[in-house]
Amino acid sequence: MAVVHGPNLNLLGTREPQVYGSVTLDDVNAALARAAAPLGVEVEFHQSNHEGALVDFVQDAARRVHGFVVNAGAYTHTSIALRDALAGVARPYVEVHVSNVFARERFRHRSYLAGGAVGVVSGFGAASYTLGLSGLVEHLRKEVLRPGS
Ligand code: DQA
Repeated sequence: MAVVHGPNLNLLGTREPQVYGSVTLDDVNAALARAAAPLGVEVEFHQSNHEGALVDFVQDAARRVHGFVVNAGAYTHTSIALRDALAGVARPYVEVHVSNVFARERFRHRSYLAGGAVGVVSGFGAASYTLGLSGLVEHLRKEVLRPGS
């Protein structure tokens, strides 16, 4: 599984702590690694502030992973390129957000990614990522175990 962190998420821990809390990106990744072990999956992480670099990562990682946990940050609300990359590689993904985007400004209510996602987890702080990961793994297990597949 690959976890994609978009722009400004490298600042977690110091960035607007009233919105995003005090947990750092390293803390988030450590929590994901801990959650992955009992789920029996491996996780890799990638953070970039650049839209094209995120597209490149998705294309590249899709050759080795079964799915993605994606917090695209502000690109969630703007990036057709990232949406097309995720659709293009045809791997299931979960969209996650640290904050509850629906309790915030209107421009955060629109997501270019949600329509193609298995599901969306928003507002649980760093736990959004681990909840997203377990939802994705559950989804993949069902797909594999589905009769006739
Ligand atoms: C975010 C929400 C986005 O609206 C914002 O642009 C971010 C972080 C979140 O995790 O809550 O950068 O994705």
